[in-house]
Amino acid sequence: MKLISCIIRPDRLASVKEALFRAGITGLTITRASGHGGERDTVTVRRGSKLLMQFHEKIKIEMACSEPFVAATVNAIITAARTGAVGDGKIFVQPLEQVIRIRTGERDNAALTPVTVAEVQKHSLEAQR
Ligand SMILES: Nc1ncnc2c1ncn2[C@@H]1O[C@H](COP(=O)(O)OP(=O)(O)OP(=O)(O)O)[C@@H](O)[C@H]1O
Ligand SMILES: [Mg+2]
Repeated sequence: MKLISCIIRPDRLASVKEALFRAGITGLTITRASGHGGERDTVTVRRGSKLLMQFHEKIKIEMACSEPFVAATVNAIITAARTGAVGDGKIFVQPLEQVIRIRTGERDNAALTPVTVAEVQKHSLEAQR
């Protein structure tokens, strides 16, 4: 299992959500974020000496995925979030040790929905109908 998180432009959120849904990813968390990507042009001098970083409005999406979903998830985000201009964002993929569904106590892959490639294909077929 992996915890995939990504930082994207707010105006790409609708298309990223649609691409994720088509890839079978329906469990996710979206947070409004404020970020800096190391850009130099936004560093400004204030009151003579202080350097102040300017932060940009971003969206953070977090998804816990079983292994068969990882590549499709990353591809969906890249395709839907990319404009080609600086500031398109980043994707982070981290190992995920444990997932627990609170209602049932199910653990790991059983706590992630859906869990197989077959289920993903079924989901995306249903989404296209
Ligand atoms: N190393 C990082 N760690 C955590 N968050 C980051 C990191 N780099 C970028 N981000 C987040 O992603 C947002 C967009 O970053 P950005 O796309 O500008 O990255 P970049 O490396 O400068 O790439 P680009 O050259 O395309 O601009 C940032 O505002 C920040 O929220
Ligand atoms: Mg940048």
